[in-house]
Amino acid sequence: GSFTMPSPQLLVLFGSQTGTAQDVSERLGREARRRRLGCRVQALDSYPVVNLINEPLVIFVCATTGQGDPPDNMKNFWRFIFRKNLPSTALCQMDFAVLGLGDSSYAKFNFVAKKLHRRLLQLGGSALLPVCLGDDQHELGPDAAVDPWLRDLWDRVLGLYPPPP
Ligand SMILES: Cc1cc2nc3c(=O)[nH]c(=O)nc-3n(C[C@H](O)[C@H](O)[C@H](O)COP(=O)(O)O)c2cc1C
Repeated sequence: GSFTMPSPQLLVLFGSQTGTAQDVSERLGREARRRRLGCRVQALDSYPVVNLINEPLVIFVCATTGQGDPPDNMKNFWRFIFRKNLPSTALCQMDFAVLGLGDSSYAKFNFVAKKLHRRLLQLGGSALLPVCLGDDQHELGPDAAVDPWLRDLWDRVLGLYPPPP
């Protein structure tokens, strides 16, 4: 017979100031369940960050606020993940993807998502996809970038963890 990897718990962590990133995260949770994947969705600062080194598959959904600043509910995570003493192998067990929500009329467009993506690579994580750059300025809103990115994401995830027949 053939063996398949058991599908892991997918973890969706969000940083959201006015609710958009949280809505997109909940959509991710629904789409995961429809695909019979276990999934948890929570705000970055309510997740116990020391456990991150045990997570196999994490989707980060992050808005940018202020002048290129992280939302309030991910400020503690932000301080932690940029600590200088984290080893460059800290996240080498993790496959991740970063979905950003921003507005290209700001100078620091999607700054938080871009910076987080680079940092996770620096800590040894493997990116499943390039960072998604949701943009309020698009005539279709952030979904113009989010919809095709999510299709690619599920292709990648189900390729890694094929569902049982
Ligand atoms: C006060 C304020 C500041 C913002 N600053 C930025 C910014 O610096 N860069 C950016 O790309 N988007 C910026 N945005 C746009 C938001 O990131 C975008 O609307 C996003 O969808 C909000 O997600 P949220 O509802 O989860 O907070 C800003 C929005 C507001 C209201």
